[in-house]
Amino acid sequence: MSGSSTRPVRRRFPEGTTAEDLKEYMAPFVATLGYKFNTESEFVDEVLTSELEILEKTGDVFCPCRIRTGDPKEDAKIVCPCIPFYLEQFAAMRKCWCGLFIRTDVDDGAELLGVIEEPEPGSAVDVPVCRVEDLPDGQVRHVKIGKQDIALARVGDEYFALSNLCRHAFGPLSDGILDGYYVMCPWHGWRYDLRDGTTDHPDADVRTYEVTVSDGFVLVRAGL
Ligand code: SF4
Ligand code: FES
Repeated sequence: MSGSSTRPVRRRFPEGTTAEDLKEYMAPFVATLGYKFNTESEFVDEVLTSELEILEKTGDVFCPCRIRTGDPKEDAKIVCPCIPFYLEQFAAMRKCWCGLFIRTDVDDGAELLGVIEEPEPGSAVDVPVCRVEDLPDGQVRHVKIGKQDIALARVGDEYFALSNLCRHAFGPLSDGILDGYYVMCPWHGWRYDLRDGTTDHPDADVRTYEVTVSDGFVLVRAGL
């Protein structure tokens, strides 16, 4: 790795760490668990770039599709690659949450990233995106399924998922403010109903996703 750390304290990756450094570090590790980097290299670079941005902010490589709790012990479970903690779920999906890693026997990782279209009957899959306790009441967070950016919100014990992109100028709804069943875009204040993605502005509704809770996990339904 290049660069030297001015904060050697608990930082696992020095300043100046690059996507190539992460690849070098992670590849042998995940190989022992039966995984490899996705064959979609553009997607891999996109995720690793996000992880590096998070590294700069937090000092560790969390992935953009996971929600940090702020509890260091809990968050240690979701430092990338988080596969050892979720072996069973990932084996079922044949990839990690966002698809950075895929099972070694998958030839075309793009197939597994295709969990973004409207589900055909019988082809839907419930993708675990976080644990129930990861998302406190009244908050909205960004999660990723494949290439799809989703705002996941909690109101009481109800969870809602909708496209993260505001239809006005693509503001991130996951940075918005929740007001009951509505989320207000942080950029210019457009309001969307979490329950059906509707807004007062014409032809600007956003897509919603079905959300369920099972075994302490929040699952978002996406097409295969
Ligand atoms: S879901 Fe994938 S990319 Fe995200 S932390 Fe886990 S292994 Fe890394
Ligand atoms: S981008 Fe959302 S209101 Fe302008």
